[in-house]
Amino acid sequence: MVTDPNVLLEKARDELAEANSEQDVEAVRIRYLGKKGELTAILRSMATLRHEERKELGAKANTVRDAIAALIEDKKKELAKIILAGTLKKEKIDVSQPAQGVQPGSRHLITQTIDEICRIFGDMGYRVTEGPEVETVFNNFDALNAAPSHPSRDLTDTFYFNETTLLRTQTSPVQVRTLIKEAPPVKVISPGRCFRIDTPDATHSPMFHQVEGLLVDEGVAMTDLKGTLDDFAKKMFGADVRTKFRPHFFPFTEPSAEMDMSCFKCGGKGCRICKGSGWIEILGCGMVHPNVLKVGDIDTERFTGFAFGMGVERIAMLRHGVDDIRLFYENDVRFLRQFM
Ligand code: DAH
Repeated sequence: MVTDPNVLLEKARDELAEANSEQDVEAVRIRYLGKKGELTAILRSMATLRHEERKELGAKANTVRDAIAALIEDKKKELAKIILAGTLKKEKIDVSQPAQGVQPGSRHLITQTIDEICRIFGDMGYRVTEGPEVETVFNNFDALNAAPSHPSRDLTDTFYFNETTLLRTQTSPVQVRTLIKEAPPVKVISPGRCFRIDTPDATHSPMFHQVEGLLVDEGVAMTDLKGTLDDFAKKMFGADVRTKFRPHFFPFTEPSAEMDMSCFKCGGKGCRICKGSGWIEILGCGMVHPNVLKVGDIDTERFTGFAFGMGVERIAMLRHGVDDIRLFYENDVRFLRQFM
C-alpha cells in the first residue's frame, strides 16, 4: 500500500490526464477519495501513529485531498468544454447549402376539369350545389321519371344498399333535391361522383364524375338550352367549335338530345380523336320533363326548364389526349405531374 500522499497525487494527476469521459473522472475520484479509496486508507491508518507523525501526515493528506479534488473539478470543466464543442460542430447549420424546398401539390386533372366547367357556368350565373353520393332510389330514379322497368335500375347495373338506398348512378338526383328545396328561378350546376357496376377498362370505371346543370324559369325554351351549351363548348374547347343536337331519350327530359361538337383537334375533317367522323359526343340534355317539375310542386304551365349532364373523365380525356380512364385513379405522379 502506498503510504506517501504525494505519490497518490502524482498517480491521480497522470490518470486524470488520460481520462476521456465523465465516467473515467468519476473512477479516479472513487479510487482516491472514495470511502474505500487509497487516500482515505492512508487517513484511516493514521490512528496507529504517534501524535507528531499523525499531525504531519494528516496535514499532508488533507492538502493532497484538496489538490486531487481541484484536479478533478478542472478535468470535469475541460471535458464539458470538449463535449460542447463537439455538439456545436455536429449541429452546425451550413447556411450556404441550397434549401431542400417544399414539394408543391397540385389539383388532380379531374378536379381541374370540374373547376373549369363550374367557372364557365359560374360566369353565366349558375350556382354550384352538391348532392350526396349515397342517394335514395326515389331521387335517383322515380322522381326522375325512370319507369320501374328502366334498364339502369337493374340489380346488375347499380350498387344498391337496400330497396330504398343506392350509390347514385348520375348527378341528376341533385335536380330533384334542388327543385324540392327551391322555387324557380333555379340556375344550378352540380359536380360529383357517380357509381355504376362496370368492369374497369380503358373507357369504363365503376366510379366516375359528372357535372349536372339545371335551369328553371318562366319562358325557358329549347333555344336557350342550345345557346347556353354552344357557348359552353366554345369556352371549354375553343371559339371555333360548332355544335349540333341529336335527338335522344332520357326519362327526365322531353325532348331529349345529345350534343355533339365539331372535333377541336381536326376542325371536323376527321382524325383519331373523333374517330374519323369529325364530331365528338359531349353531353346529354333536354327540356325538363313536367313529371320532374311536379315532384318539386312547380306550376308546369308557368315554368319550364332545361337540364344537361356531362362526364368529366370523358371531357378531360378528350382535351388532354388521355387514352385510358384508369390513369386518373392510379395516382401515379408521373402521369399526374403532366397536368400541374
Ligand atoms: N344523367 C344522364 C346520364 O347519366 C346525363 C344527362 C342527360 C343529364 C340529360 C341531364 C340531361 O340532366 O338532361 O347519362
